[in-house]
Amino acid sequence: MKISPKMKKALDDQVILEASASNSYLAMASWCEVTGYRGSANYFYMQSEEERTHMLKIIHYLNNLGTLASVPATKTPTNSYKSLEDLIKSALKNEQTVTKAIHVMVEIAQKEKDHSTYVFLEWFVNEQVQEETKFETLLQKFDLIGRDKLAINEIDKMLAADAAAPADAAA
Ligand code: FEO
Repeated sequence: MKISPKMKKALDDQVILEASASNSYLAMASWCEVTGYRGSANYFYMQSEEERTHMLKIIHYLNNLGTLASVPATKTPTNSYKSLEDLIKSALKNEQTVTKAIHVMVEIAQKEKDHSTYVFLEWFVNEQVQEETKFETLLQKFDLIGRDKLAINEIDKMLAADAAAPADAAA
């Protein structure tokens, strides 16, 4: 089975986005670790791994079609944040960018009647709903619990519990 050059380019670009997301979460995890947010650090290290698996899914998909996936260079992610809330806002923004790119790919697949890629992308569409909801819910916690040291400590503990949860629950 073949895919169009346009679809291939979009999937290659998605590999860049997933690799960048993985690196960005790694930088966030490092920031959390040195700032003393151990739970959040574990959470974002795990998130970084998850993004790597997304990247690999696309690479395997392309390679299995017999069209060699590109392995990209990525920009150095920022590793400076004003607060944990600021960091989570950035994470949500990242996810929104990824979601948009996935929706564009779905539209290309629909237009080209590329049913295989369309079905392949379905998993990513659902995953993005979960990822955005996850960060939106976390951001609501700051409004609900507060932003003082005790509140942030509570939020850090919640992230630690999420990081320790089985992969299915944390997806
Ligand atoms: Fe794979 Fe969270 O985007």
